[in-house]
Amino acid sequence: MTPWPYPRWIAHRGAGRLAPENTLAAFRLGAQHGYRMFECDAKLSRDGVAFLMHDATLERTTSGRGIGGEQDWHALSQLDAGSWHSRRWAGEPLPPLAALARWCRANGHLLNIEIKPTPGTERVTGEAVARQAAQLWAGAAVPPLLSSFKPEALAAARAAAPQLPRALLLDRLREGWLEEALRLDCVAIVCNHALWDAATVARVRQAGLRQLSYTVNDEWAAQRLIDLGTDGIITDRVDLFSPVG
Ligand code: G3P
Ligand code: MG
Repeated sequence: MTPWPYPRWIAHRGAGRLAPENTLAAFRLGAQHGYRMFECDAKLSRDGVAFLMHDATLERTTSGRGIGGEQDWHALSQLDAGSWHSRRWAGEPLPPLAALARWCRANGHLLNIEIKPTPGTERVTGEAVARQAAQLWAGAAVPPLLSSFKPEALAAARAAAPQLPRALLLDRLREGWLEEALRLDCVAIVCNHALWDAATVARVRQAGLRQLSYTVNDEWAAQRLIDLGTDGIITDRVDLFSPVG
């Protein structure tokens, strides 16, 4: 089975919902709550800078309007990505992936970078995020885990930085999902937690892959996954995990 240097508990988009998702403030807060690994969503500005944001559009989580990937980084870097959440975080900027990389490496934290392409940019986003991640984590003992719902993005990431581990994200167990992950040389499947059962976990393990779940916000769901022997639990909750787990 693939060696696995990552902890079981992974804070979703930083610190879940306690701070504005995908901002450095959220990752810092997650670390204060004991997390040592984080999930983030990465996409590209029009001029090719990898930055952190979940949605394709700016309205929900920033002071901007329109499609984030259609603006240059200079304009994106001026936006307020904190006020939407609460006054406490007013003025938090959208971070470039490079800033999160510096913070992770300085503090020994690990990262799952979900490649979240603006629709229509799957290949170029997979290629650029992987290339930039390879540079940002050059010489690191543990590389970031790249994941995506988009097979085309993972294929491009493999071409650009084959040494970085990849995981296929699934919101349902579509026809041929395991074969597709193997074809992409993935090391793990990250799946909606409700889809895992003992037989599916066994299939993944027999194929030599690891299995992780998103987004696990109930204690009973987390315990069910732990009983199944899960490798990773991505959660919004900062009070759900045991530091020894
Ligand atoms: O990467 C796990 C999870 O974040 C996938 O869904 O929509 O929250 O990015 P989403
Ligand atoms: Mg995500």
